[in-house]
Amino acid sequence: MTVSFNLNGNPVQFEGDPQTPILWVLRDHLDVTSPKYGCGAGLCGACTVHLEGNAIRSCSTPVSAAAGKKVVTLEGLPQKMGQALQSSWIEFDVPQCGYCQTGQMMSAADLLAKKKRPNPEEIKNAMSGNICRCGTYARIEKAIERAAD
Ligand code: FES
Repeated sequence: MTVSFNLNGNPVQFEGDPQTPILWVLRDHLDVTSPKYGCGAGLCGACTVHLEGNAIRSCSTPVSAAAGKKVVTLEGLPQKMGQALQSSWIEFDVPQCGYCQTGQMMSAADLLAKKKRPNPEEIKNAMSGNICRCGTYARIEKAIERAAD
């Protein structure tokens, strides 16, 4: 079966099982490797991408759910948002091993798209589903506050 969707502004197609998780379609078929495989069970957030403007777990969302819709990865964030997050992540030296960070940034982008100036509690709540084994949470929270400035 063919599933067509829009990826970062471009039309793309996937030929195969429509139950294939979006994560594998992105990584293995479309060579977009910013979303990472962490738990594969919707629990860690490393695979976070946006589907129709909402952060989703691409490891546990079948590509059929993206048919005719817009998928955005870190590479396709609106320029202003992408730059704000990138520079605040650099300023606060956020990543340690870095593996979870694209997922963290995609959740942060989802939050900031919906709430211009989230307070610390809103940031904590919005980011609570993204796990970081290195414990970079405090820096992530500061970076989000800065990106919201
Ligand atoms: Fe998708 Fe962990 S890899 S939530």
